[in-house]
Amino acid sequence: MNRKDFVKRMGLGVGALSLSPFLSSCLHDNSVLNGEFQFPLALSSELTGTNSTLNASPSAIQIGDSYSLSAFRFNNSLPGPTIRKKRGETARIRFENNIGQESIIHWHGLIVPPDMDGHPKDAFNEGSYDYEYTINQRAGTYWYHPHPHRITGPQVYRGLAGFYLVEDEEEQALKLPSGEYEIPLVIQDRRVNGDEIVYNPSMPDRMMNGFMGDLILVNGVPAPFHEVYPGYYRLRVLNGSNARIYNLAFENDAPFTIIGTDGGLLPKPIETTELLIAPAERADILVDFSTGFDQNRVKLISKPFDIPNGGMMGMQNMMGSNFEQGTGFSIMEFRITKSDTYTSFELPKQLSKAEFPKESDATTNRPIQLDMQMGQGHTINGRLFEMERVDITVNQGDTEIWEFINNSNVPHPMHVHAVQFKVLERSGNRGLLPTETGWKDTVLVMPGERVKVIMKFDAPKGLYVFHCHNLEHEDAGMMANFQIQ
Ligand code: C2O
Ligand code: CU
Ligand code: CU
Repeated sequence: MNRKDFVKRMGLGVGALSLSPFLSSCLHDNSVLNGEFQFPLALSSELTGTNSTLNASPSAIQIGDSYSLSAFRFNNSLPGPTIRKKRGETARIRFENNIGQESIIHWHGLIVPPDMDGHPKDAFNEGSYDYEYTINQRAGTYWYHPHPHRITGPQVYRGLAGFYLVEDEEEQALKLPSGEYEIPLVIQDRRVNGDEIVYNPSMPDRMMNGFMGDLILVNGVPAPFHEVYPGYYRLRVLNGSNARIYNLAFENDAPFTIIGTDGGLLPKPIETTELLIAPAERADILVDFSTGFDQNRVKLISKPFDIPNGGMMGMQNMMGSNFEQGTGFSIMEFRITKSDTYTSFELPKQLSKAEFPKESDATTNRPIQLDMQMGQGHTINGRLFEMERVDITVNQGDTEIWEFINNSNVPHPMHVHAVQFKVLERSGNRGLLPTETGWKDTVLVMPGERVKVIMKFDAPKGLYVFHCHNLEHEDAGMMANFQIQ
């Protein structure tokens, strides 16, 4: 797509954004449409200490001075408090459930024993659940969120999600930007009506693209801005949306560097000007605001993108969705206003050791068929989730290749618990993204694509799930159990 097309499509995209009552009543002067970003970005506090508590309860999000939205939050924070641990540390976390419905927490990307993993069968209604596990894996940008069957979507949507950052010595030796130069950003889209976050997916929402909103929040804040120095920052981006895919870029097409993804640092940094990020994926990004940023305000945007073989787009429009998958819009604004006290940083050529499983070590090749079936919805190998049924059995210590085959006409971000995998290949012409040169736990499989991943099952024996991380698809049963024996 050339520049002119892009600008044209961006214009269209933003024009197509219907002004929700929330936007018109709360954001003065139609600020989002005028491109004005007026709310300071919020940063969650960190959860420290060996023994900690995550208390989920109904709680109001404050926006600006005078507006609030009713939500569910962990420890009254949105996103939830950031958990930061070193490799080798033991986590003891009590989950207190006060939201009035069943829930359980999953530590997305962490490899923990089955009863610590938040399998939906462990969901409970009231009281608490004590987690205790030792972290024995690479430094990375992980996250946590609820995982009860059929109601993960609404719980995450209303605000239950947080970052889980793991550090190790390999990463610390790189002296990456830290402190105020390291910014976790969770991007989420919402529909809002009055002071309620609305979650009411229609049948087409569930059956097709999932539930998408027209209000973009970063760390829970709509139309946010953040002041930065002209220098290097580490942005740890999480797509915490239920269904929306973003195509991250700066509005001025400035380059940025991908240094890590779901399972930590890439072998080598990769410079790019745009990056597709699907629900649950993470991108660890270095941006140098002193190079390629001439103006003192620059927006992080989502560029328009095409869904290959996505036959349902027109149909979705017809059904009244006003902010469809692939539309372009702005996300947040960086104001390069500070000037002094910035210390420079040298980008290393090598970031981490690449020790991916070898194809020659794989004992099994498993096709994983993703289909849209009339009367059933999105299935995995022809079936919907059943709590107790074991769908796949793998031997502990084995290396396997799984091939996700998307026979439907909507995207599926596929996520496997208890492992980190390497993407081997993708059919069609998208190729592998910069993030797919590293360790992943979630991979986007576009309509018509076949994506092969390789992984070694070293987690403790027991029952885990894998599923589509489009949360409407997951809640409708696009999930399966696998047993490590
Ligand atoms: Cu982030 Cu099974 O989920
Ligand atoms: Cu997970
Ligand atoms: Cu899906």
